[in-house]
Amino acid sequence: MLFLFVILSSVTIANTKFFRLEAEDFAKPWYNQTVHQRSSASNYKAVHLHGGILKTEFCLTKQSHISIEDVMFSNDGGEDEIEVYFDWNHMGEIKTRNSSSSGQSWNFFKTSGPIAEITNVKPGHHVLILNVSKSDPHGVELDMIKLFISDEDLEENVFKCEVFCYDSINHEHIAGRDFLPSARIDQRSFNTSCTEIDNIVIPFYHDSAKEYIVKATHPRYKAFINYRVSNFTNCTMGSDRIWAYENISFPLDQPYHTERALLSESHIDGKSALFFHFSLDGPEKGVMDSEIGSTFRLYLDTKDPVEVGFLYYTRNNNLSKSLVQVYNSSVEYLSWNIPDFTWKEGKNNILGLLFPEKTKLIIRKVELEKRKQKLDTPFHIFDNTDVIIEGVEIDFWWIQGHKMAVKVVDSDREFTEAKYIRIYTRVPWETDKYSQVFVMYADGNIRLLPMTPPGLDWIPFGSSLLVGYSDPKTRRPSAPISQIDIDPKLNTLNVTYVNGDRATIDLTVTFSETILSIRNLNFTDKKKHLPFLTFRSMWVADGNADVDHVSVNGNPPRRILSDWETLYGTSFVFYRKCLSSHNTLSPDIRVQLFQN
Ligand SMILES: *[C@@H]1O[C@H](CO)[C@@H](O)[C@H](O)[C@H]1NC(C)=O
Ligand SMILES: *[C@@H]1O[C@H](CO)[C@@H](O)[C@H](O)[C@H]1NC(C)=O
Ligand SMILES: *[C@@H]1O[C@H](CO)[C@@H](O)[C@H](O)[C@H]1NC(C)=O
Ligand SMILES: *[C@@H]1O[C@H](CO)[C@@H](O)[C@H](O)[C@H]1NC(C)=O
Ligand SMILES: *[C@@H]1O[C@H](CO)[C@@H](O)[C@H](O)[C@H]1NC(C)=O
Ligand SMILES: *[C@@H]1O[C@H](CO)[C@@H](O)[C@H](O)[C@H]1NC(C)=O
Ligand SMILES: *[C@@H]1O[C@H](CO)[C@@H](O)[C@H](O)[C@H]1NC(C)=O
Ligand SMILES: *[C@@H]1O[C@H](CO)[C@@H](O)[C@H](O)[C@H]1NC(C)=O
Ligand SMILES: *[C@@H]1O[C@H](CO)[C@@H](O)[C@H](O)[C@H]1NC(C)=O
Ligand SMILES: *[C@@H]1O[C@H](CO)[C@@H](O)[C@H](O)[C@H]1NC(C)=O
Ligand SMILES: *[C@@H]1O[C@H](CO)[C@@H](O)[C@H](O)[C@H]1NC(C)=O
Repeated sequence: MLFLFVILSSVTIANTKFFRLEAEDFAKPWYNQTVHQRSSASNYKAVHLHGGILKTEFCLTKQSHISIEDVMFSNDGGEDEIEVYFDWNHMGEIKTRNSSSSGQSWNFFKTSGPIAEITNVKPGHHVLILNVSKSDPHGVELDMIKLFISDEDLEENVFKCEVFCYDSINHEHIAGRDFLPSARIDQRSFNTSCTEIDNIVIPFYHDSAKEYIVKATHPRYKAFINYRVSNFTNCTMGSDRIWAYENISFPLDQPYHTERALLSESHIDGKSALFFHFSLDGPEKGVMDSEIGSTFRLYLDTKDPVEVGFLYYTRNNNLSKSLVQVYNSSVEYLSWNIPDFTWKEGKNNILGLLFPEKTKLIIRKVELEKRKQKLDTPFHIFDNTDVIIEGVEIDFWWIQGHKMAVKVVDSDREFTEAKYIRIYTRVPWETDKYSQVFVMYADGNIRLLPMTPPGLDWIPFGSSLLVGYSDPKTRRPSAPISQIDIDPKLNTLNVTYVNGDRATIDLTVTFSETILSIRNLNFTDKKKHLPFLTFRSMWVADGNADVDHVSVNGNPPRRILSDWETLYGTSFVFYRKCLSSHNTLSPDIRVQLFQN
């Protein structure tokens, strides 16, 4: 006979997710809790107990309802009693039945049925205890506990407490401002498993915002680890190769067709032509394959010299032909360079090889690669030993023809090569040490950091902000800048955008935070209803993210990627509750509307 005490409240738990606590994960061998292989146990393992407690644990990140649905166990021999405790409170009791004591019954797992429903369980760490309070000499075996939790977004590794989330971190003290009309933020984020993609995209909308501040502070969690290396696991970017083929007999004896490219034959100018039709991803997808120049290489297998012509169609559908090159046994490969901004985003990119009529040969390999880029070159714009401003020239800038001028007040010099500027401030607790606190890219993206804390060389950037009107539909939104006028004494920047918009930015650096005040917004075309600010960051999983929650006007936090579609408010905090292995010390970001 199976006895059950069931504490059932009348709450039906909606939107639940199912979790298991496997007994073997919590067995303590020094208490004689032996793990046995059992073919019909969950995960093929069960834990043998003669008495005493098996303590299991799990973690929640938001207040949830929990239903202890089932405890699976087996018995051989006389009756036993198992008490169930949640956070040390008695929830119910399970009695096991007599069964053959010949050792045959251990592999028959029984179900307890529902034990209890517990409502409004707080976020944080919890324990579920099975106490074998009475046992025959043969003991009992525990297999697993099934739980339903009313949090569909709770991840397995967080549930298992493998990622540490501080339930005490919140921003409830940061209230909204009633006297200002609220701004709206929209969820435009997408899923990714690559930590180097900015998949969190949150545009801000307001009809009349004139001034707001952005603050970067150290994360609220206390951590003294400074993980900051890039993690390209699950990332497709970073590969220079666009496509490659091997061992093609020409003329083609079979069709060549892959996801990326298609090969075809034809005749042009009395020559035999081999064409490669291919598609490329570009800014719409957040990558630059279609924008940056490339190198095409051809490896042949032939004893006799062969004349090879090369041609391609540009994004304006102009045909470009290169000089004929001769391939012979003393060259390894022939190569041709294709300039930046030649290819187009999407389909219909075409390049071709021309061989003399009736040529027969084996193409050992053809490959198309993105061109190599030179390292970024920094140069001084200003230095008074308290503040250093640098410009940085980069080899490839993704917006065709875009130039930005940087000017310093009271100086005749104008710098036109910078694609981003960065500002360093002297660290007061060490001599001759500087901390990078601000970066502004020519496409309007800004990164902010509080001063490097004592004892560290540098801390990483994480989330970024796009200041200025931008198109929220693209994966790489931008607000291209035409000119920045800097007053280094006041730490003020006047920014003029390519579209004529203007803004003044004041930078204030204190020991614990870096504050940008963005004022005098003179944004021309408010009727377009474009975002005036966009928050961008990364979230792959709790514990592997640069941001995991957003709190608006001090209201209960929302998960950054789920839980919400649109929110309204005047103060927004983007922060982490969960200790992250990615950019552990990158800052929390607060946005506060000031005036309209
Ligand atoms: C564990 O089991 C062994 C053999 O059954 C027994 O001798 C020992 O006393 C037990 N230890 C504890 C802590 O119960
Ligand atoms: C269970 O088995 C024990 C001995 O193994 C016996 O004393 C007891 O009466 C049995 N109980 C039931 C309910 O059959
Ligand atoms: C487990 O049960 C035993 C026997 O009834 C009891 O002495 C002990 O206090 C219980 N442990 C807990 C944690 O309730
Ligand atoms: C992201 O993935 C989750 C789970 O796989 C899914 O439920 C959700 O709809 C996805 N979100 C988006 C924006 O694609
Ligand atoms: C790198 O990212 C992957 C998933 O994107 C994650 O599984 C892995 O744990 C990360 N590595 C580190 C060291 O954080
Ligand atoms: C991402 O990488 C992790 C660790 O290598 C792996 O377990 C996981 O399956 C990967 N996810 C995807 C979507 O590729
Ligand atoms: C192409 O041929 C070479 C030499 O016969 C061979 O080593 C290579 O594996 C082949 N490559 C493919 C993709 O078939
Ligand atoms: C390419 O085509 C465009 C328009 O179709 C034309 O204006 C331009 O001059 C052409 N460029 C070259 C190099 O032929
Ligand atoms: C092979 O081609 C190279 C470059 O075109 C040329 O310099 C060389 O003399 C040629 N060698 C032979 C053996 O034809
Ligand atoms: C920025 O613009 C304001 C108002 O137009 C002006 O007073 C100020 O001097 C400018 N500052 C710089 C650094 O150009
Ligand atoms: C905003 O810009 C326009 C055009 O550049 C200018 O006429 C106007 O005076 C500016 N307004 C303010 C408040 O600066």
